Amino acid sequence: MSVLKIVKYPSKILLQSLPPVENFDSDLKYIVRDMFETMYAYNGIGLAANQVGINKRIVVVDVSLKEERKVMPIALVNPVILNYSKKKQLTEEGCLSFPGFFEKVPRSVCIEVEYYDINGRRQRIIAEGLFARVLQHEIDHINGITFIKRMSIDKQAKFYLMFYLGKYKV
Ligand code: CO
Repeated sequence: MSVLKIVKYPSKILLQSLPPVENFDSDLKYIVRDMFETMYAYNGIGLAANQVGINKRIVVVDVSLKEERKVMPIALVNPVILNYSKKKQLTEEGCLSFPGFFEKVPRSVCIEVEYYDINGRRQRIIAEGLFARVLQHEIDHINGITFIKRMSIDKQAKFYLMFYLGKYKV
């Protein structure tokens, strides 16, 4: 078991769409185990593989401590969002790859996701609330989209200005 190093902005791998997992072997199980351990070590509620330098479409999420609805920790391999609710909510988000930076991001309140579990079985879930928000954030990551890109233009401008003026250091 190991806690992996978190990749931070502006590392290139955060801006890359990752290739799918093809082999559901023991290596995949080790990666998922280390991703959970890393997420818990940093008090995160979600983590995408490129945030620990792994070039594979893998996401782990555990919102069980922050959400009153019963949601188990979950690992999603090759996840795809099939449907988004039209209704969105604007809520503050953070990201382990952008420590100390928090801003409001609009996300659909409900989504339907298809993914493979670590044994290679295809699954479908409906997610709501915080669980849906974290899944959208993490699935964006494996498509090379950071939460900055989901903010309003003025919030994005604020972030880039702070970053380039050296007022925001990751
Ligand atoms: Co993130």
